[in-house]
Amino acid sequence: MKFVSPPPFSFSFPLNSEMTSTQQSVSVGHVSTVSPAVAPTTISYAAEKVIGQGSFGVVFLAKVVETGETVAIKKTLQDRKFRNRELQIMRSISHANIVPMRHCFYSNGDRPDELYLNLVLEFMPDTVLRFLRMFAKQKEYMPVIYVKVFMYQLFRALAYLHYNRHNICHRDIKPQNLLIDPISGVLKLCDFGSAKQLVAGEPNVTYIASRHYRAPELIFGAASYTTAVDIWAAGCCMAEMLLGQPLFPGETTVDQMVEIIKVLGTPTKEDVASMNKTYADFSFPTVRPLPWSRVFRSHTPPEAIDLIAETLKFAPTQRIVALDALTHPFFDELREAQTLLPNGKPLPPLFDFSDTERQYMSLSLLQRLIPSHVKDS
Ligand SMILES: Nc1ncnc2c1ncn2[C@@H]1O[C@H](COP(=O)(O)OP(=O)(O)O)[C@@H](O)[C@H]1O
Ligand SMILES: [Mg+2]
Repeated sequence: MKFVSPPPFSFSFPLNSEMTSTQQSVSVGHVSTVSPAVAPTTISYAAEKVIGQGSFGVVFLAKVVETGETVAIKKTLQDRKFRNRELQIMRSISHANIVPMRHCFYSNGDRPDELYLNLVLEFMPDTVLRFLRMFAKQKEYMPVIYVKVFMYQLFRALAYLHYNRHNICHRDIKPQNLLIDPISGVLKLCDFGSAKQLVAGEPNVTYIASRHYRAPELIFGAASYTTAVDIWAAGCCMAEMLLGQPLFPGETTVDQMVEIIKVLGTPTKEDVASMNKTYADFSFPTVRPLPWSRVFRSHTPPEAIDLIAETLKFAPTQRIVALDALTHPFFDELREAQTLLPNGKPLPPLFDFSDTERQYMSLSLLQRLIPSHVKDS
């Protein structure tokens, strides 16, 4: 895997539990440098408040005392027996639409044997989930231009992760994990706590992903799934942005499949075999698919429906891949010179492809993706 080099510092911090309360200076001690050429520096964080409480830990809003910069610190219990996969992955990736990790350090918990890993992340003011809820509260829908801007950036992040040299599957794509700046329209994917580099032929656990966004092959318990599970989840996110509520609101794992079948209809024998071979003889009651035009509101652009239909296919191999999704006509408006955000601001950077991205983009693809008004400027 070609990855960016790890941060130059490895941090050793005095062990303390101060981050569990707010308004405290998160003591942070010195940095022991890996390279003798780099002088040791002290960085102190003052935790201000809890901004996220997930299943695996707590996220704090904090200030870097020396610079006044705002950061987010994700603190999770670290099992000393295992290497932390989230840290490993965060260190090895770098993309405009993935939340960057600035530093990391360890701290103690209340019990002396507890060790916590703290990931210091760029702070982002909002999530797609909260943004969606704001519109729902006002009985409004999220303007379609935001759906375009956010989904394009999500697919750009997924194209990077899924690039065959990386083959990283995020495994928990959902609106809570899509960080945004609503003013600039920038989206950055977060939460690599479930992410894994998939190796063909090696089994993976299937109890991943949040229920409403779980791909059908995961519900069927297929251990040999691919990064197409992220595409399914991305399609569910896009549908939710258009509907203002989850497309498949299953209340249990089994019910989740029922919700999917209510919309997509009964999977064919081939579909079932492509999700999990051991279920090939499984028979479901016959349900006819609901036309997509009945799933979404009448003014939903047909290109939006077409893209969702390309992501929500039972057969994982038939789903669109993230790189191809970028060229979908739904995103054409983003390539027009006059397009602005509803607040009158220009679109966020969408065409600043890095050298790594250019490795998996052919020249003709770049031609298609980079509009002439950007090329010529
Ligand atoms: N860099 C960040 N900037 C702002 N908020 C964040 C950041 N990272 C996480 N959060 C908030 O904290 C929540 C939980 O973080 P996440 O990494 O998803 O942890 P978990 O594994 O517990 O779900 C997110 O849904 C988001 O609301
Ligand atoms: Mg999360």
